Amino acid sequence: MYIVFEGIDGSGKSTQIQLLKEWLEANGLSVETFVEPTDSEVGKLIREVLQRPNAQTEEVQKTLALLFAADRMLLMDKLEDESKIIISDRSFISSLAYQEPVEWVEVLNKYAKKPDLIILLDLDVAKSVSRTSGEDTFENEEFLARVRGNYLNIVKNYEHQIINANNGVNKVSSDIKKAVAPYLGICPDCIR
Ligand code: TYD
Repeated sequence: MYIVFEGIDGSGKSTQIQLLKEWLEANGLSVETFVEPTDSEVGKLIREVLQRPNAQTEEVQKTLALLFAADRMLLMDKLEDESKIIISDRSFISSLAYQEPVEWVEVLNKYAKKPDLIILLDLDVAKSVSRTSGEDTFENEEFLARVRGNYLNIVKNYEHQIINANNGVNKVSSDIKKAVAPYLGICPDCIR
């Protein structure tokens, strides 16, 4: 099963993925996690471009979409391991939410692996901005408000669960466990 965590910057994906992984392993399941952008050479270039002031212009967004798709290609085989639960911090769904134009992003990601389940950590934009460093050009309120709206529309096309990420870490974690349990045959009453 391929579970993808999505959400605007600062929504707590990495913390929550770690907590979910530990809990699934405690339930006897085998889990592997991945992060996009990766730490490949392409991933490093992406992080550098994200800090440029022009990262939101159409030209750079198109280039970023290409780079994200290339970086994603490097992961493709690893996501196919059916013997494990694969949890990814971001996927091509991030490209659909952050990059434009949408037709461009769709073409570039035609062969990207589709998630079996999206966990969307939905966070208020003001909270997101206060949690992030502001170093990346994307970390501003107007842009992230658009991304948040995009996410809420995009996930409708996929199996998904929307989690309120404005709550504390423990509440968010237990909401995620409750959302994931039915897909994995874990007894919902056993969730603490
Ligand atoms: P990251 O450094 O992981 O930020 P965070 O920990 O806040 O998620 O991700 C870098 C940025 O890359 C983040 O602002 C989202 C953006 N991004 C895209 O714009 N498109 C993509 O396809 C992906 C995977 C990430």
